[in-house]
Amino acid sequence: MTDALEEVFAAALKSRIFKKRWVLLPDYVPEELPHRESELRRLAEVLAPALRGEKPSNALLYGLTGTGKTAVARLVLMRLSKRAREYGVPVRYVYVNVRHRETPYRVTSAIAEALGVRVPFTGLSVGEVYERLLRRLRRMQGVVIVVLDEVDFLPKRSGGQDLLYRLTRVNQELGGSVWVGLVGITNSLGFVESLEPRVRSSLGEVELVFPPYTAPQLKDILERRARVAFNPGVLDEGVVPLCAALAAREHGDARRALDLLRVAGELAERRGEARVREEHVYAARMEIERDRVSEVVRTLPLHAKLVLLSLVSLIDEGRPPSTGEIYEHYKRLTVELGLESVTLRRVSGILSELDMLGILRSRVVSRGRYGKTREIHLDADREAVLASLSEDPMVARIVERLKG
Ligand SMILES: Nc1ncnc2c1ncn2[C@@H]1O[C@H](COP(=O)(O)OP(=O)(O)O)[C@@H](O)[C@H]1O
Ligand SMILES: [Mg+2]
Repeated sequence: MTDALEEVFAAALKSRIFKKRWVLLPDYVPEELPHRESELRRLAEVLAPALRGEKPSNALLYGLTGTGKTAVARLVLMRLSKRAREYGVPVRYVYVNVRHRETPYRVTSAIAEALGVRVPFTGLSVGEVYERLLRRLRRMQGVVIVVLDEVDFLPKRSGGQDLLYRLTRVNQELGGSVWVGLVGITNSLGFVESLEPRVRSSLGEVELVFPPYTAPQLKDILERRARVAFNPGVLDEGVVPLCAALAAREHGDARRALDLLRVAGELAERRGEARVREEHVYAARMEIERDRVSEVVRTLPLHAKLVLLSLVSLIDEGRPPSTGEIYEHYKRLTVELGLESVTLRRVSGILSELDMLGILRSRVVSRGRYGKTREIHLDADREAVLASLSEDPMVARIVERLKG
């Protein structure tokens, strides 16, 4: 009897759709990275001198999100340290995601801790933690490779610029029995261009640019991952090409393509269906967009929400408005709600922030003899924006009116 029950439970737990869902999760590093052969090879060439105990050149990897930078760095370093272990040569690597670590203190601690230094969560200065890290390094031998992923987040914090500068010079502070090599990774071309020349030339001794994937390349990447992730025969023929095409239409982002495929599978599973169809991919796109928009909109200050709401109302009325038109509309909303309005300048700032967050897009257009003017378009899904805005009780009342 017990066994019969176990069988029922096991059957319920077993996915009809997925064989190994986790190989589609963003942090999974696959064994092979098709269409990144030259980047893998180039980075391996840069780092390989570590196997001879020589200091590798520092490298800076950049390109848009989802172009395989993190995956390439992790795969090369995993393979390199495996080789080093086999040969008994002292090569270690430390991977730190700067965005997750947030402050220079925590970035320095993360590197130090990965090398076996104990660091209290607070109570020391960055300088003191850095000294402990140096002391540890001076007792080490061989090569330590430090990967700073999303390194553009470092200079955004106070002291971050200094830390980056010190790290690029760290070998001068060490005795010469150990070498530190740096691998910086960033999605932001702006960051690369904003680096001080001396930091750029040091961090970017070798620069590797990752181009976006094309639709056929994404299709190829997805097909290989899908073979491992899904049960045989559950994907409709059009599913993978559709995920690839949708992701390529944005900017050739493999993360986006994999997310679409995974969420489409999850939706099919939740609905109790035996196959994943194109319809599930479209629904997945909607669900991902909802999550993205709600993450941004929910945390906006009230006035930014009102500015966004003004944009949606004006677009509903017919055409993409200018900054001035949005400001007038926004002011009327504040009067209605009995609030003090912020300045035109501030509203203009809010619009730029929303642009950077991917919620709207502004375009300069020529309106005949009236000269040039800036048109603001909504870049996020209208329904998703309204749904997130109505979570704020202050704003919900006005949203209701728009829906009706
Ligand atoms: N060539 C590839 N083959 C297989 N999977 C890939 C490839 N490039 C990227 N991916 C996958 O796409 C996702 C995003 O890649 P990632 O390396 O995190 O991008 P980036 O760091 O450039 O933003 C990860 O899940 C990664 O495993
Ligand atoms: Mg990355």
